Amino acid sequence: MLSKSISFGIHGIDARIIEVEVDIIRGLPGFTIVGLPDSTIRESRERIRSAIENSGFEFPPRNFVVNLAPAGFKKQGATYDLPVAMSILHATGQAGIDPAAIPMVGELSLDGRVKPVRGVISMTIAIYRGGYRSVIVPYENRHEAAAIREIEVFPVKTLAETLSVLRGEFGPFRDGRECDDPHAGPDFSDVRGQETAKRAIEIAAAGHHNILLYGSPGSGKTMLAKRIPSILPPLGKEQAIETTMIHSVGGELKSGGGLITHPPFRSPHHTSSDVALAGGGTFPTVGEVSLSHNGVLFLDEFVEFKNNVIQALRQPLEDYEITVSRALGTFRFPADFMLVAASNPCRCGYLFDGEIPCVCPPHQVRSHFQKIAGPILDRIDIEVLVGRVPHRDLLEVHSCEKSAAILERVKTARERQKNRFDESATRYNSRMTPGEIRDHCRLDADAEAVLEAAVMRTALTARSFFKILKTARTIADLAGGGTIRKNHILEALSYKNLQRNYDV
Ligand SMILES: Nc1ncnc2c1ncn2[C@@H]1O[C@H](COP(=O)(O)OP(=O)(O)OP(=O)(O)O)[C@@H](O)[C@H]1O
Ligand SMILES: [Mg+2]
Ligand SMILES: [Zn+2]
Repeated sequence: MLSKSISFGIHGIDARIIEVEVDIIRGLPGFTIVGLPDSTIRESRERIRSAIENSGFEFPPRNFVVNLAPAGFKKQGATYDLPVAMSILHATGQAGIDPAAIPMVGELSLDGRVKPVRGVISMTIAIYRGGYRSVIVPYENRHEAAAIREIEVFPVKTLAETLSVLRGEFGPFRDGRECDDPHAGPDFSDVRGQETAKRAIEIAAAGHHNILLYGSPGSGKTMLAKRIPSILPPLGKEQAIETTMIHSVGGELKSGGGLITHPPFRSPHHTSSDVALAGGGTFPTVGEVSLSHNGVLFLDEFVEFKNNVIQALRQPLEDYEITVSRALGTFRFPADFMLVAASNPCRCGYLFDGEIPCVCPPHQVRSHFQKIAGPILDRIDIEVLVGRVPHRDLLEVHSCEKSAAILERVKTARERQKNRFDESATRYNSRMTPGEIRDHCRLDADAEAVLEAAVMRTALTARSFFKILKTARTIADLAGGGTIRKNHILEALSYKNLQRNYDV
């Protein structure tokens, strides 16, 4: 008897529907799986047989042939255990109900428990698009699946429970959880002084601008960067789903986790490999650049990252996605993050300190500058020198502005961008195309004059010129929108200061 069930496979961050067919054919007892990579077949057979027997069913000595279709689609992982096992129960007359009724996914453990798998939200989207209206998922993945409201989700903990679901003995899971949990992290009010750095960070957050923080050791660069999530508005529904898909496929969704509604903040260590940062591998996995999609990629101690790792950043910084080509096909992973880089300005760290003198030889200062500037400076809109706050100021008790107040301004500026780019794929000022810059960056006469003078004085490259306009656009948006004025341009110019500071 032929028995069929419906499951899924992951391709990049998307899922495809896979049909699982189990047939019992003549011949000596056997268990063949066609359509899975060799390495996983053996383990998979062992788990399925054992799970069936340990759940109180029989695995009769027959000749089973399992076919996973389409054959051309390369499959990975153990997500097919549950549908294969259910089809075997059905084919051997032990299920009493057709498993094809509800698509399902899950890895089995030897004792018959259903273990969580990656990519469940993508799978749920795929079945919705495929015309199905319900899905069986591992219990730990229930919140993630339930994020797609149009689908009825049936969480299961064991193989036996799966049968009960198919027999209609359980109702669907209703997620009573409120998605929009407010961000609970460190607050900008902890940071004394640093008004310039805070202002620059507010602008960066408002327009999704890449930012570089540089300055003396202990000046608070790391402290400032870690507070950025507290001023980022929650993700829209579409972004939330996309972000959750990436984290789920990457195995980075915490157990029992649901929709990710807050922009991710990723801070990979400087010893990370290029694959860890950019993604890749035989079965391509998502890297930090994709896990920080719609959020922040924080590279602390920037110059300590290996050169090939920094090089791997260039494509996503340019294209806002990363392409991985493998024998299995080409995978595209979204990678539109706000880069926050932090670094000391020289080896000793005190180059711009003003109090503590720098002890680095000039050639070393130059090569350090090259390490910061070379590969990424043309991708950074805002450069800010973070000065050390005097100790007595650190002890002052005056109250600093809370993140919530900054967040309100960021939200308003984001709202202006949303209206501006209504029809376009662009979401943020920092992502404007040259055409959009022409359309949306109107300068008044004074602003024009200031910018012109700067172009003459500093021989601005075209790229820097556009960056200044984009940053000025965000500054103007924070100030109420409309025409870009002189002080907006002047402020934007002040954030292109790294090269200038080294030149003096
Ligand atoms: N402006 C500030 N307000 C309050 N605390 C501060 C401030 N600046 C620094 N600190 C304190 O000093 C510590 C060191 O700051 P932080 O680690 O962020 O410096 P850094 O610039 O990243 O240094 P490094 O270059 O060594 O990495 C902070 O954890 C905090 O306790
Ligand atoms: Mg630091
Ligand atoms: Zn130095």
